[in-house]
Formats: sequence, structure tokens, C-alpha cells
Amino acid sequence: MNGLSVSRLAIGTASVFDSMSTLREPLRCRILLLLEGQELTVSELCAVLQMPQSSVSRHLKALDEGGWVAARREGTSRMYMANAAALSGSDRELWALVREQILASAAVDQDRQRLASILAQRLSRSQEFFASAADRWSVVRSELFGRRFDLEGLVGLLDARWIVGDLGCGTGQTSSTLAPWVHRVIAVDESEAMLEAARSRLREMQNVDLRRGRLEALPVGDGELDVAILMLVLHHLAEPQLALGEAVRALKPGGRLLVVDMLPHQREEYRRQMGHLWLGFTEGQIKGWFEELGLKAVRFHPLPADPDAAGPALFAASARPPLRETMPIPEPAAIRA
Ligand SMILES: C[S@@+](CC[C@H](N)C(=O)[O-])C[C@H]1O[C@@H](n2cnc3c(N)ncnc32)[C@H](O)[C@@H]1O
Repeated sequence: MNGLSVSRLAIGTASVFDSMSTLREPLRCRILLLLEGQELTVSELCAVLQMPQSSVSRHLKALDEGGWVAARREGTSRMYMANAAALSGSDRELWALVREQILASAAVDQDRQRLASILAQRLSRSQEFFASAADRWSVVRSELFGRRFDLEGLVGLLDARWIVGDLGCGTGQTSSTLAPWVHRVIAVDESEAMLEAARSRLREMQNVDLRRGRLEALPVGDGELDVAILMLVLHHLAEPQLALGEAVRALKPGGRLLVVDMLPHQREEYRRQMGHLWLGFTEGQIKGWFEELGLKAVRFHPLPADPDAAGPALFAASARPPLRETMPIPEPAAIRA
């Protein structure tokens, strides 16, 4: 046997004896058992075990040093949990043996009952909070977390294989929300200044492909996109149908088109101030254009007004090109022309 194998054997043997020594205290085993199912604080452990904090802390320290438990800080508390995943094979076997012995003890039975009431107390604290907070929870929620976090989180529902077109991407705000969740974002804009700002915002995101071009002649191949988004763009276009047609050309059969824009409004000054060509769109206009393009599954919803927003109310409309077999086949004359 070479030196390496000898030292391995010695370490292995020492480790088993260390573990046996850690588990020789029944109280440590009861603690481990309690921490198998949930995280507990020291004071919760004290309440369950009916032991003073000094003894519980001492035993927890031994378990922590042996790698049997893991701790994390939460505010001013430390939460402890059994660390089964980190145990060696021999420690796992040892624990299985010891566990079986102590499971049948009356002390463990008592621990279980007291644990159940401690956990019920935790639950009733949160139930009490929700019972009293029902009428102000919406306010508390946005005060604590802001207005948009749920929508940002819901982006996680997108398919990670998708290629998404952010058409008229501006400074890349939509692209930056989508990019972490999808395979690739192709962000198109005609304005070099907007693309420059988008480049700076998106510099950390390797899967965003910024392309300069016009929405009426998209620099995107046929069927390259799973999703095409036109966010606050359509009202700038003299002929929105052309951009919608281009977006549909760039979509895979069965892909998704999403338009977000303004509902009809009377802010004439926007024409001068921001070059708007359309003062919003009606549901009929949008659905009419979608139908002309042969789109299916057309949906149109006004968006809830954001109380902090000064601009006109918005809508979202979505649709999809038909699957390939039902795509309209162009007339031969039209192909020749
Ligand atoms: C109001 S911004 C919206 C930007 C972005 N979609 C957003 O939600 O913040 C409109 C963008 O569309 C771009 N745009 C307008 N007409 C365009 C066209 N015909 N082709 C390509 N981009 C266009 C503008 O350069 C601008 O960046």
C-alpha cells in the first residue's frame, strides 16, 4: 500500500470516529431530526426541545463544525437546516442507523408535537397579517417591491428557445427585460442615436443582436422570429400595415405578434413634440389590419392605467400567423408581378 492510500484510510477512519463522536449526544440527534424538515432558529429549537439556549447553541456548534447542519442569516436571526446533501456516504449510513434508533423514542415524539405548534404559530402570524392587511396589501406590495416586479417575473414564462424581435427597440428597454429569458433578441431601429443608447444599456447581454433598419423593410430573414414585438412604435409609421406585414413575414408559422400602443386620444401636441403620425388606434383598426394579414387568435386588451403615468391609455394586441399548411397561397399572377 503506498503512502497516499494509507493517509486516505487514516483520514476516512478518523472521519467516521469524529462523526460517531458528534452523534453520541441524543440531543444532537433530536436537533438533526428537527432540522431535516424545515429551517429553525435557535430560539425555536429551544422552545421545541425545552432546553436553555446555551445548551442548544453548544450542540448546534458541534453539528455545524461536523458539517451536519448549515446556517444562513436572515435579518437578525440565524436559520439552521440539516445539511444532508453535504454528508459523505459513511456519514449518511451512520445517520440512517442512529435515526432509526431515536425515531421510536418518547422524547422525539414530544419534539414533533411541540414543533407542530411552533410551526402553527408561524402560520398564524402570517395569517393574522393577511387578515388585517387585505385592504392595504396592494399598497404594501408596491411600496415594498414596486409596480413592475410581477411583470418582470412573469417574463420567466417565455420559452428559452425563442428568438424575439424587438422592432423599433429605441433604447432597448424591452430587449433588456426579455434577453435573460430567451435564446436571442433581434433589436431593430432606424435611429443610430437610439441604437447607441441601446448598445450601452445592453452591453452585458451577449444574446442581443442590434440591427439598424426600417420596420417597413426589416433586416430580418423570413421566419427568423418566434415573437415579434412592436412596442410604442406603430403610431410613428405612415403605413403601419407595411410594418405589420414585415413583422409577419419575419415570424415563424405559429409565432406571435405583439403590438403595444396608444388607444385613441386627443393630444395633438404629440404630432409636433414627438412626430406622432397617429393619435392612437381603435380596436377595429388593429383587428382589421391583423385580419387583412390572415392572422389568427387575435386578442386586444386595454392595459390598466398606471396612476403615475401622464400619457394616454394603452392597449396590447396579439395574434399569430397561421400554421404553414393553412397559410394563404399567393396567386401565380401576383408572384410574376
Ligand atoms: C417611441 S420609441 C419606442 C421605443 C421602444 N420600443 C420603447 O418601447 O421604448 C419609437 C422607436 O421607433 C423607432 N422608429 C420609428 N419609426 C421607425 C421606422 N420606420 N423604422 C425603424 N424604426 C423606427 C424610433 O427610432 C424609436 O426608437
